[in-house]
Amino acid sequence: MKHLMSPLDFSVDELDRILDLANDMENHPQKYAHACAGKKLATLFYEPSTRTRLSFEAAMLNLGGSVLGFSSADSSSAAKGESVSDTIRVISCYADICAMRHPKEGAPMVAAAKSSIPVINAGDGGHQHPTQTLTDLLTIRTLKGRLNDLTIGLCGDLKFGRTVHSLIHALVRYPNVRFVLISPDELRIPDYIKENVLDKNNVPYKEVERLEEALPELDLLYMTRVQKERFFNEEDYVRMKDFYILDKKKMELAPDDMLVLHPLPRVNEISVEVDSDPRAVYFKQAQFGVYVRMALILTLLGIKVEE
Ligand code: NCD
Repeated sequence: MKHLMSPLDFSVDELDRILDLANDMENHPQKYAHACAGKKLATLFYEPSTRTRLSFEAAMLNLGGSVLGFSSADSSSAAKGESVSDTIRVISCYADICAMRHPKEGAPMVAAAKSSIPVINAGDGGHQHPTQTLTDLLTIRTLKGRLNDLTIGLCGDLKFGRTVHSLIHALVRYPNVRFVLISPDELRIPDYIKENVLDKNNVPYKEVERLEEALPELDLLYMTRVQKERFFNEEDYVRMKDFYILDKKKMELAPDDMLVLHPLPRVNEISVEVDSDPRAVYFKQAQFGVYVRMALILTLLGIKVEE
């Protein structure tokens, strides 16, 4: 039985197959409409979510399956003190697969160790968010046509942003990828990612503070929200929150074919005036999140749909 904790749980070939399947699902939804009939997905969300939880639910419903779950720790027995290990043993009796989001890094791994159904990490603290990465890879591959030969700007909260951490892990496996890490000094990418992921794979990167400086050389700009919930004090958050605001004027500095991605939710880091720019693809990205989660559910359940 396979779980998904990190994007590295799949080889590049396996990822390619998931992305191919997701593209086919977008083009031929009818073919998959009953693929998960009789199967249940549990969504165990101990932290707020809109896209991840609802796109998982939409994905399972699109496959003809059903969904159950909770959307906050207070509405589950966690509020009474139940451990993740006990909760998952029980959920394993109710569902065929589950997606778990938790504020503690590593909680989905603890669950996977005790689970008799596949567990998908839907975001664990500031650590990883592999299904957002699948969404990002599908968006990039479909709209840009490739996952290699890319200069990728990652901008904002690179310290706490789990989407960025997972995306870097996944992209260093493709040839000729380089990163421009754009953040204020206090929100720089953690050293363990620089050392164990970027340096170890000989992937070129530079760290800059000014977005304007980076924009002209980028194929992709991945904007992120300052992760308010991970700050130790409000003052630091308030000081950092509007550090970057991508607006029309800054977009003039970017190449005509640069794509702007954002895992969403956005706060102020992308001005709404950018939404109508054809290079802004963050709402399309949210749509790709449904197809890729459909592909992931089928893959982890080992269901094959015949041509
Ligand atoms: C992200 C997350 O939860 O890490 N959102 C998402 O899943 N699309 C990004 C964020 O909350 O800033």
